[in-house]
Amino acid sequence: MADFPAVEFNRLPHPAPVGLAERNSALANPGFGTVFSDHMVSIDWTDGLGWHNAKVGPREPITLDPAAAVLHYAQEIFEGLKAYRLSDGGTALFRPDANARRFNESAKRLAMPEIPEETFIGAVRELVAADADWFPSVEGGSLYLRPFMFASEPFLGVRPAKQYKFLVIASPAGNYFKSGAPAVSIWVSSDYTRAAPGGTGAAKCGGNYAASLVPQAEAIARGHDQVVFLDAAEHKYIEELGGMNLFFVFDDGRMVTPPLTGTILPGITRDSLLALAREEGLTVSEERYSLDQWRKDAESGKLVETFACGTAAVVTPVGKVAGHDGEFTIGSGGPGQMTSKLREKLVGIQRGTVPDTHGWVTRLD
Ligand code: PLP
Ligand code: COI
Repeated sequence: MADFPAVEFNRLPHPAPVGLAERNSALANPGFGTVFSDHMVSIDWTDGLGWHNAKVGPREPITLDPAAAVLHYAQEIFEGLKAYRLSDGGTALFRPDANARRFNESAKRLAMPEIPEETFIGAVRELVAADADWFPSVEGGSLYLRPFMFASEPFLGVRPAKQYKFLVIASPAGNYFKSGAPAVSIWVSSDYTRAAPGGTGAAKCGGNYAASLVPQAEAIARGHDQVVFLDAAEHKYIEELGGMNLFFVFDDGRMVTPPLTGTILPGITRDSLLALAREEGLTVSEERYSLDQWRKDAESGKLVETFACGTAAVVTPVGKVAGHDGEFTIGSGGPGQMTSKLREKLVGIQRGTVPDTHGWVTRLD
């Protein structure tokens, strides 16, 4: 943790925010990632000076020198978390401390400065307060928050930059998947991998997502919703989707998810669901699970459910799996019982309708 003093935010309210009619229409059907709120947070970091110039002000384009290191060597990391409207009308964040910690883990891997957790959470709080009118009205909607940091120093040598910008933007969000289908279909990539041992798979850096675009496009072109990656060393074991972790549920009360060996993102939804599943009495383990075994277990009926999870996609049932060797169906092809139960419990905690026994919910008002 960097030992710089806590930053003070300069508050500059937007002089001309989006009009009420336009905002209401955007909030009624926001989809994912295309609608943005009025404000943003920005904080600068300079070698020797640390974090400074913190402000929450109008959301606006940023100016970068064409030699800014991020544009050349992709020194960039991000986070994704949501602010929820609670059943009692208040608002809350879900485990923002976990996002702050993961952000700093990503920062370390990308040779970037860490940001004090209280500054990270403070920045998110400032933005939600400034954009409190931007919670979607659609059922299941939330205010998706995107903190990110990039190297802004103009310098073409390959070394960690000496200047960075940390920003937070907000995007009202509804469903991540456009189709609204009850279960998604996923394509197993055998030509591409997402992350190799020793690489950046466990970090939330933009480059991982850039590298996932071709396999993801391949999945879409073949008529599937998402790509699933296998391990880079043996091309055998299931890792994760481009932006979600995976869980497997068996008929004997076991639930399995791939272990955090450094090549998959340590999802906060994943971690929360591991705890909730244990409370449901499931025998939970983090262990490697191969594509071959997945197919065999689905065909024999031993494997009854598979679901993907993440902040953006929440808990999404997987109904069909396809790859170069053909395809197989999971259970009935629709949402499984345990998947729905865990989803309801998680969403209930996030919305304040299920008691938060883990201290995961941070009330904002
Ligand atoms: N895996 C990847 C590659 C992701 O991008 C995400 C999304 O953040 C996840 C898993 C799920 O993580 P979380 O539950 O923290 O959103
Ligand atoms: C998230 O779930 O927050 C993600 O970052 C996944 C994706 C939108 C990149």
